[in-house]
Amino acid sequence: MRIDIITVIPELLESPLSHSIMKRARDKGLLEVHLHHLRQWAVNEYGQVDDYQYGGGAGMVMMPEPLAKAIEALSQNTQYDEIIYMTPDGATFNQATANQLSMKQNLLIICGHYKGIDQRIRDHFVTREISIGDYVLSGGELAAAIVVDAIGRLLPGVLNDETSALFDSFQDNLLAPPVYTRPADFRGWKVPDILLSGDLKKIEEWRYEQAVQRTTERKPDLLKD
Ligand code: ADE
Repeated sequence: MRIDIITVIPELLESPLSHSIMKRARDKGLLEVHLHHLRQWAVNEYGQVDDYQYGGGAGMVMMPEPLAKAIEALSQNTQYDEIIYMTPDGATFNQATANQLSMKQNLLIICGHYKGIDQRIRDHFVTREISIGDYVLSGGELAAAIVVDAIGRLLPGVLNDETSALFDSFQDNLLAPPVYTRPADFRGWKVPDILLSGDLKKIEEWRYEQAVQRTTERKPDLLKD
């Protein structure tokens, strides 16, 4: 999969997408991430990409011209399945969206800043708008990093058996059960006996019950579906 990201602060994306599982995905060639600085398409020699908003009001708006040029230039080389704009008024990101997007070939992600991007870009280019939650970040970069991470780890071959996404929270609308590692007794706090029993069938059942209980207590909405 190829993901292109248009941003005014590529530094915010470099580190989150260069370590751990994202690094492995990129090193293996399963995920290609390309960061594009919007200033390449600035309207003048000062690197301007934003301007005051029509109608007045505090805060700058990202101008349509640099964004349109960026999208058009990148689209010459790549046929995008989706052009995604990161914005707090988008649809809330969840595992189902991550699963869906992980099946695409090419994604283009636009990170907004300031008051956001000119509405005409949203109307004429953007195919999907994503929020990572009901709070406002300073820009779309950290949100984009989260979306790319959630998608990237689902790509076939990225995770090994040990980290398999099949057992993640949310994957079957259930939160993951509790997990334990050595020692079996830490400060008198014991690992549940069942996990030491070696009875794989019973362990599986216990994990399932724990997952259902946790989901019921913490995120009952997941069980509605
Ligand atoms: N940009 C600013 N806040 C955001 C959010 N909550 N989700 C996605 N992009 C954003």
